[in-house]
Amino acid sequence: MIYVSEIAKLLETVTSLSASELAPLIAPAPSAEMGDWAFPCFKLSKALKKSPVLIAADLSRDLEINKPDFIDKIEAINGYVNFFLNKQAAVRAVLTAVKEQGKDYGGSDIGAGKTITIDYSSPNIAKHFHVGHLVTTIIGHALYNILNFLGYRTVGINYLGDWGTQFGKLITAYKRWGDRADIEERGIDGLTELYIKFHKEAEIEPTLNNEARAWMLKMQNGDEEALRIWKWFVDISLIEYQRIYKRLGITFDSYRGESYYDNMLDAVVGELRKKNLLVKSDGAMIVDLSEYKMPPCLILRSDGGSLYPTRDIATALERKQTYDFYKSLYVTALDQNLHFAQWMKVIELMGYPWAKDMLHIPYGLVVFEGGKLSTRGGKAPKMEDLLEEAVARAAVIIEEKNPGLYDKASVAEQVGVGAVIFNQLYNNRIKDVLFDLDRMLSFDGETGPYVQYTAARANSVLKKAPPGLKEMDCSLLTDNYSYEVVRLLDAFPERVMDAGEKYEPFIISRYLVSLAQAFNKFYHNNIILSDDRELSAARIILTQCVRDILKRGLGLLGINSPEEM
Ligand code: ARG
Repeated sequence: MIYVSEIAKLLETVTSLSASELAPLIAPAPSAEMGDWAFPCFKLSKALKKSPVLIAADLSRDLEINKPDFIDKIEAINGYVNFFLNKQAAVRAVLTAVKEQGKDYGGSDIGAGKTITIDYSSPNIAKHFHVGHLVTTIIGHALYNILNFLGYRTVGINYLGDWGTQFGKLITAYKRWGDRADIEERGIDGLTELYIKFHKEAEIEPTLNNEARAWMLKMQNGDEEALRIWKWFVDISLIEYQRIYKRLGITFDSYRGESYYDNMLDAVVGELRKKNLLVKSDGAMIVDLSEYKMPPCLILRSDGGSLYPTRDIATALERKQTYDFYKSLYVTALDQNLHFAQWMKVIELMGYPWAKDMLHIPYGLVVFEGGKLSTRGGKAPKMEDLLEEAVARAAVIIEEKNPGLYDKASVAEQVGVGAVIFNQLYNNRIKDVLFDLDRMLSFDGETGPYVQYTAARANSVLKKAPPGLKEMDCSLLTDNYSYEVVRLLDAFPERVMDAGEKYEPFIISRYLVSLAQAFNKFYHNNIILSDDRELSAARIILTQCVRDILKRGLGLLGINSPEEM
């Protein structure tokens, strides 16, 4: 981003737009042959009633006359004005910024003083953590890191699905057929079995359903035994989830689940009634949304069943009060679009102007080779098994490539888990993701292991570097391979910003692959450590910058980088 504001000031002298209007239009040129920065003339074209190609030609000619020292050449290409920086000046500016700003390079303070809550993971408990949960968990965690790096105070909320009729059923089943020691030992497996048994038996003996409702009622009325067993089921479930979160390096700032909000629902209903928003319909209470072309939002069901939207309304009110958020994000699957649109509309109708600050962040499906995977059907593979398999395969590859590697097990863990995360974050959120272990673990595809491997390669060069090398001479890094790397290092802050603004981590993963590719070209075409001490020094500094940014970028995605691979 270095020089963008300078270029904007320059353009201001020859156009009708101000520098602050111009700066956001200036984008990195697509490749080094096309310069460093490009200004599109399409916007001016309307106002000037002239073709962008002609405008670009005129502007380039005018600008070329009095260009400053840091620009070597200005050229019109297809309706763009392209700026070629003075390479030596650019290399110096970029590498100095990367080095001097250290771990802050790429971050920002635009978020200072603002809080963003992120609701992610939020599994329905007493069920195994499956691959569908993984997606929200990984995207949410990456957004947490990215927004935090941009200066926001981020609050990670795991809104556990820990309340509802399923617990009445589970308690009923446990009281009838359960065995304490068995559940303690087998955890969610044991609970799942009880749940399945309940449904089977309830077909023969329908009164079981009444029993389940009675237990649910007891829970709601604060019955000591009911709550004790419920709490125990929650704790049993959390053991498995915590194991996975730990493996993924994830922590949450709040575990307030649905149960926490149960006693706030009456107040929500009262407020909706007072604001004249509630309508009776078939024995249920709803908010009519036909004016907004949506089905009604169900507030109270006649059978006392699930109150998912009502609870989300209560939760949102409490979050606004607790955190006074600037934005409040909800990372869940695309199939919950309508749910979020409905209850967020209700908050707006209640007269809360901050309704617009709540955003549903949807994502697509995970697809396995040969078929779709429903993220809700319960048949999804267990996440722990998939992670186990990924790590096992990573171990085999590492054994093959580097049998002498120190601490192979923990490298395999970082590579296997990293591959899964990276794969999940490599596309636009909304696109379905193919879960193909062979592909995501490839060391030379567009994968996590490829980026990790490149960082480790840079690291091993740095380990061999002799101490006491002289100050770098930037003119030694103006060849095409080095310069492409420098250009990408310069782009890092802009990519982080873009990812944060669009809530799209893939912008960073794609960037990391480009940087890794550019570095590998540089590495294969240049001898980094040679007898030429000055040249070595310059190349080492470049290598260091690349290693640091690859590591930092992976870190933002929630991925560790092994020192060696
Ligand atoms: N527990 C829900 C599910 O598994 C996701 C909850 C998302 N967060 C929310 N505030 N609704 O489908």
